[in-house]
Amino acid sequence: MNPTDPSIIHGVSRLQAWSDEQRRAGKRIALVPTMGALHEGHLSLVRLARARANRVIVSIFVNPTQFAPGEDFERYPRDLESDLAKLRPLQVDAVFAPSVGDLYPAGPPTWVEVDGLTESLCGRGRPGHFRGVTTVVARLLNAAKPDIVIFGEKDYQQLATIKRMVRDLCFDLEILSGATVREPDGLALSSRNAYLAGEGRRQARALSAALVEARNAFESGERGVSRLLQVARQRIEKEPLIQLEYLELADAESLGPLLSGAGIQRSAVLAVAATIEGTRLIDNTVLEVV
Ligand code: PAJ
Repeated sequence: MNPTDPSIIHGVSRLQAWSDEQRRAGKRIALVPTMGALHEGHLSLVRLARARANRVIVSIFVNPTQFAPGEDFERYPRDLESDLAKLRPLQVDAVFAPSVGDLYPAGPPTWVEVDGLTESLCGRGRPGHFRGVTTVVARLLNAAKPDIVIFGEKDYQQLATIKRMVRDLCFDLEILSGATVREPDGLALSSRNAYLAGEGRRQARALSAALVEARNAFESGERGVSRLLQVARQRIEKEPLIQLEYLELADAESLGPLLSGAGIQRSAVLAVAATIEGTRLIDNTVLEVV
């Protein structure tokens, strides 16, 4: 084994013992939860972890409870060897790669569910999705016992929901977030981008371009909710392969929708979800009111 290879840990109690040992030695532990198929977005979070902690754990687990029947759980890309190769230069200390049975012992599971924040945006089209996310993240946190846990801003609603869970359930840790990493044409990196090709991939750039056009309008002083949405929608509608699921301006904290006749008075998130040739993509940008 290469000296920079991380320990690969499969069982929850083994990871807990590993973390206890690190803590006893006075180390600060950061956890980066992922579903694998690692890309630069994930790796940027690992680098942030490396800068903020003495020990870095990356978890790789395609979590069945956050996929609805008919979604891409079965075909979600899984390649542990190639993920480990990407992590090697980043000096990760442990990779937690549990099986479904390790995280979900037999029998009906205990669910962790955050109300309110999970009802809008992606929660509408993917009922039960965030319940699966919070349930698995709670388990990962109790398995890894980190001082810091890191998530990407690309999944804005996921980040907000997990922050609420951590606060409400008194998890004793700090949450950090990392900015969205993008392809040169603006498309947010996602493990699902692997499903895109040809014309679909080309049209996908309209999602981030639409957000940028609306943000430019906002920065030039436009505050009208309908007008900002119209700017973004016009860009997306140029691309016939994009099936829009939602394009919404929501309050940046409550994630409640802003009324179309209103103006932006508090920070808002402009969020989009769309399907391109069967591939679901999301993106967002925050319009800050200071
Ligand atoms: P996954 O989609 O693998 O993403 C893992 C982490 O990487 C999340 O925090 C996500 O927000 C972040 N991420 C994804 N794309 C990014 C990008 N382009 N730039 C920056 N960060 C990015 O999100 C999940 O897995 C799961 O829901 C999980 C939290 C692991 C629970 O199963």
